[in-house]
Amino acid sequence: AQHLDIAVIPGDGIGPEVITEARKVLDVAAEASGATVDYTEYPLGVQHWLATGETLSEETLQQLRGHDAILFGAVGADPQDTRVPSGLIERELLLKLRFSLDHCVNLRPARTYPAVQTPLLADAPIDFVVVREGTEGPYVGNGGSIRKGTSQEIATEVSLNTAYGVQRVVEDAFVRAQGRSKKLTLVHKHNVLVHAGDLWRRAVEQAAPSYPDVTWDYMHVDAATIHMVTHPGRFDVIVTDNLFGDILTDLAGAVTGGIGLAASGSINATGDAPSMFEPVHGSAPDIAGQGIADPTAAILSAALMLDHLGLSTAAEQIEQAVHVQLSQWAAEGSATLSTAQRGDAYVQQLRRVVAGS
Ligand code: NAD
Ligand code: IPM
Ligand code: MN
Repeated sequence: AQHLDIAVIPGDGIGPEVITEARKVLDVAAEASGATVDYTEYPLGVQHWLATGETLSEETLQQLRGHDAILFGAVGADPQDTRVPSGLIERELLLKLRFSLDHCVNLRPARTYPAVQTPLLADAPIDFVVVREGTEGPYVGNGGSIRKGTSQEIATEVSLNTAYGVQRVVEDAFVRAQGRSKKLTLVHKHNVLVHAGDLWRRAVEQAAPSYPDVTWDYMHVDAATIHMVTHPGRFDVIVTDNLFGDILTDLAGAVTGGIGLAASGSINATGDAPSMFEPVHGSAPDIAGQGIADPTAAILSAALMLDHLGLSTAAEQIEQAVHVQLSQWAAEGSATLSTAQRGDAYVQQLRRVVAGS
């Protein structure tokens, strides 16, 4: 029987709330596939930093490297909390993990469920995946400010794009397109961001002949936001840089039925470090502690993790259970359900899926 050694970083705000539910579902799915799961919890985040001054120590990072995968909730302080500098935990914990563990592919599927309402007028099905570069771009922290606080202040954020980093994520996107509807869209802004944009375009042009069955096109990122709202069905695989991918996938979450459904995987493509699976959403301080967060994104992220670890049947069963349960809620109404009630309903539905298979 397969054994899964999972590191869990519940994090802050609604992170722990949704991860509790994801674990319930994961336990049942793994067991049904004859796999056993061991969880090691790492209580990192705002509280840990306040108590110890530590965001992610070298020792903890080493321990995390030893696990098969990481299940991550969300981190980040309430912006009202003046004790925590803006983005400190996000950069020194979340981004540090993505960078240190070489999560070059930030995989963010976006799909609608037939019964789930979207804000779009034409409710045509949406099913695309954003392959967001995960270790470069403006996220590298390459910038600075001089003459800070003066009227001559100059602040820079330099976007770093390497041929190595861009080519590997473009290859990954082509391969994913081959396994889907064979359509790749490069999203960038090469009319303005000339140097990086040109590197991305050449990477796609040079890779394309190796994937003759995949057609590709290009769209500026501003136009991509229009098309994502007016005819999102045109997209199959989108490949884009770290920042554009961040912004587009919140939009993708919104147009497919809500950010509470959007899952992601931060993938190490070589397998020399664990990949990490996390909802696209953040710690949602506006609803934290109320027990009302939607755990679906965390649960679907756990499914992505199972698929990544070779338990594709277990992953499909979770997706199936989510699908059926969302339809049921669409018919019955689910507005008043708590996070735990949603998680329990998914568990029950999953048991039915497993029993029926
Ligand atoms: P957010 O994603 O936390 O929240 C945006 C909106 O979506 C809020 O109204 C929130 O209530 C709602 N929302 C998010 N998840 C939901 C869920 N599961 N169910 C129901 N509603 C949900 O984004 P934000 O408010 O910009 O950021 C809050 C904090 O989280 C910040 O500190 C930010 O840096 C951090 N953040 C962390 C991650 C991460 O850990 N991966 C991702 C995004 C933001
Ligand atoms: C995400 C988040 C992170 C990002 C932040 C919290 C650093 O918004 O996972 O989408 O920008 O990647
Ligand atoms: Mn984001």
